[in-house]
Amino acid sequence: MTQTLDFYKLSFPEAPIIKVSPPGPKSKELLDFQSSSEGSAVSYPKGLPMGLSRAKGATVEDVDGNIYIDFFGGAGVMNVGHSNPDVLAAVSNQLDRLTHSLDFPSPPRADLVKVLTSLLPDSLDKVFFCGPTGSDAVEAAVKLAKYNSRRTTLIAFQGGYHGMTTGALSLSSGRDFKEHLLPLLPGVHFVPYAYCYRCVFGKNPDTCEIDCAKYLDYILDDPHSGVAKPVAAIIEAIQGEGGSIVPPDRFLPSIKDICMKHGVLLIVDEIQAGFCRTGKMFAFEHFGIVPDIMTMSKALGGAGFPISGIAYRKELDTWPPGKHIGTFRGNVLAFAAGHAALRFMLQSDLAGYSLGLGEKMLSWLKDIEKDSKIIGEARGKGLMLGVELVKDKDTKEPAPEFASQVRTTCHQHGLLVEIGGHFSNVVRFLPPLVLTEDLALKGIEIFEDAIKKAQGSL
Ligand SMILES: Cc1ncc(COP(=O)(O)O)c(C=O)c1O
Repeated sequence: MTQTLDFYKLSFPEAPIIKVSPPGPKSKELLDFQSSSEGSAVSYPKGLPMGLSRAKGATVEDVDGNIYIDFFGGAGVMNVGHSNPDVLAAVSNQLDRLTHSLDFPSPPRADLVKVLTSLLPDSLDKVFFCGPTGSDAVEAAVKLAKYNSRRTTLIAFQGGYHGMTTGALSLSSGRDFKEHLLPLLPGVHFVPYAYCYRCVFGKNPDTCEIDCAKYLDYILDDPHSGVAKPVAAIIEAIQGEGGSIVPPDRFLPSIKDICMKHGVLLIVDEIQAGFCRTGKMFAFEHFGIVPDIMTMSKALGGAGFPISGIAYRKELDTWPPGKHIGTFRGNVLAFAAGHAALRFMLQSDLAGYSLGLGEKMLSWLKDIEKDSKIIGEARGKGLMLGVELVKDKDTKEPAPEFASQVRTTCHQHGLLVEIGGHFSNVVRFLPPLVLTEDLALKGIEIFEDAIKKAQGSL
């Protein structure tokens, strides 16, 4: 692990500081105003009630002066840290030159594409920018795949999350997200992901024969499987919202082989796992595969500037001008931010740092798991970590109420965490990757106390 000393300067050094139990009076005022004037679909402040004031590195300050250690990272956006000085300098340098460009070329756009293509595998030699959010990259990936094929159906994976626009939502497995909204895109079929803690085939690591991947082969092979040959399969190399699920090494290569055998394009969604999050520039690199199409967003915007895109093989570049347009496909500040962020990632070996600190944090979590009655499994790769909470380690009955209790206790004590997983029972850590080891340790101690408190209510 190449600990970059400068990382210490990036965060508020005194974190965590709780001056007033959150939500404090100023936060309450903002929250009340928000709930009286904004729509009820607003979600994050329901779990972490506070108004935000400033953020630096891996720390966040609320409007009441509380400073938190951030294990949430703006939902996996802040890989280079909040207010990263390199990113802010690049953005302020660009601010009074040009900010909106549709898809006209500009120097910041070209600079970003040059670095990006140098990081991508050689075969992903085309880059295309989409609307500002990750979901739009998913829409574009699906459109591109369909445009290149006479097939129409799609394969997605259980536990997968790809966004909220109609196509992306169709490919996301969460039932609650879709309730009362059906029908969405027709012809999407969900198959099992390698969620080994709850293997649908009842296997354990010793008996595993990657039945989940074989199942895909079976439905593509058997003319009576009920599934028309699909145009593409979309997968997260490491699942994020599904609960920080790392598949065994053989899973992704098997999926890739099966897709190739059946002429199905493989779309790998790197929107959350990409850009050093899991200890590699892109998560698929852990498994020695290269997708046909890759989606990207979140950390590409450096400091939360909106940007999304796809990278794909040149042979697929058959669509004509205007086939996927949109007003906001060229935020020049996001290009400048992204370019600075990628350079920062390379200069600081952020992928290596994330891998090393992630291993350390996972070993601390595994120690806590041993002594805990409610941790079913601590898992993850790099700094995409998750702790699955259960009521009973033998029955594995999910414990979503413990997860939300832990999130609240952590918040009260100065640590921000999020919740995900099939049963909303996984406490997820997606810290800015510039998290120092000291802050990581302090955060884990707060988390451990929160686990003990939840366990006490068993
Ligand atoms: C893997 C993955 N794909 C797609 C998306 C959707 O991105 P956005 O929320 O920017 O539309 C997300 C968001 O969390 C994600 O994690």
